[in-house]
Amino acid sequence: MAKKTISAVNVKGKRVLMRVDFNVPQDETGAITDDARIRKALPTIQHILKNGGRLILMSHLGRPKGEDREADKAWTLAPAAIRLGELLGQPVLMAPDCVGAEVENMVANMQDGQCCLLENVRFHAAEQIKDKKAKDDPALKESKQSFAQQLAALADIYVNDAFGTCHRDNASMLTVPQMMAGKPRVVGFLVEKELKYLGEALNMPKRPFVAILGGKKVSDKIGVIEALLGKCDTVLIGGAMQYTFMLASGKKVGNSLVEADKVEEAKQLMKLGGDRLKLPIDVVAAKDLKEGTATQVLEGDIPDDLQGLDIGPKTVAEYKKIIDAAQTVAWNGPMGVFEIKPFDVGTMAIAQSLAEATGRGAITVIGGGDSASAVGQAGLEDKMTHVSTGGGASLEFMEGKPFKAVEVLDEA
Ligand code: 3PG
Repeated sequence: MAKKTISAVNVKGKRVLMRVDFNVPQDETGAITDDARIRKALPTIQHILKNGGRLILMSHLGRPKGEDREADKAWTLAPAAIRLGELLGQPVLMAPDCVGAEVENMVANMQDGQCCLLENVRFHAAEQIKDKKAKDDPALKESKQSFAQQLAALADIYVNDAFGTCHRDNASMLTVPQMMAGKPRVVGFLVEKELKYLGEALNMPKRPFVAILGGKKVSDKIGVIEALLGKCDTVLIGGAMQYTFMLASGKKVGNSLVEADKVEEAKQLMKLGGDRLKLPIDVVAAKDLKEGTATQVLEGDIPDDLQGLDIGPKTVAEYKKIIDAAQTVAWNGPMGVFEIKPFDVGTMAIAQSLAEATGRGAITVIGGGDSASAVGQAGLEDKMTHVSTGGGASLEFMEGKPFKAVEVLDEA
């Protein structure tokens, strides 16, 4: 069932509490290095402000423990408020906290069309108490609920536009909308778009439907590989996790990154996938992982003193042929260590193949996190049907896991 969106609610003069995911990367000085998650929330933010809502934004940043404010302060959302103000062309009030008397005063004095950003919700340990833990511990339950109640009391309307955090049962994602039952609780345009593109690609794909899965660990991706083998015509494997599959096929992997304790699972996946699960034919290997180092292309065993760091040219050609014939392609996880040249070649070639696929009318959906960064590095973000803002969230979505934080919201 589709969820009600913010466009179905009259926000004029109303206090709108909107959960965004402004968990953006920063450099050592605190400067934001990629503001995509802020930019992608703009359509909903601008809609609310233009229609006279009083917008209260809340987000997390990083993983502060919420036990020591002094230690946590590096995770302030103040730089995000400044960046958002620049993008909006209007000031964004930065709150000193996300709950408490000062915040309540600030919100009470807001005018129609004004916007404030609450300080990092993870500055309070209650934000991240898992419902599973709270169920058996009345003190934890009380702590999470009273924190959520303070947030819920700030507003008349709840909006979730934080796709990147939709797989979490954090207080601001789930307990707050639970406590706002009876008031409008809707999705923003970003969450609407993410659910549409990821949902359509996975549940009613134009065929052939190809998934490309990479990244470091098989353990992170077992569930998603299994789920996609049930839906896709072909699943292409790359990234460091290919070496665990190589081990499972009885090959030597040298110094490559492997999860030796996941070999049995890899064997099961190979059995389950049969011909539909494709593993790399060749790899690019080197002694050290450093820029410009000497490399070798290998088929079969990797000698003891080398490590595999990218897919090889035959694999690129083979995967490109499969992508060229696809009508839907979902990609999650890079093919090699794309941040360090020359191990970016495989990942960049796959990004290019996907851009060409989009150009001839195929649907191309990129999971967030590293794959989104790789597409950004290739300068091809605009050439994809959809680039998700969710790393873990897009993975869990592809795996078919339910999102309680979305389920709790009003139906359309
Ligand atoms: C992300 O970057 O994947 C989201 O912001 C969620 O962050 P978390 O993994 O720290 O909950």
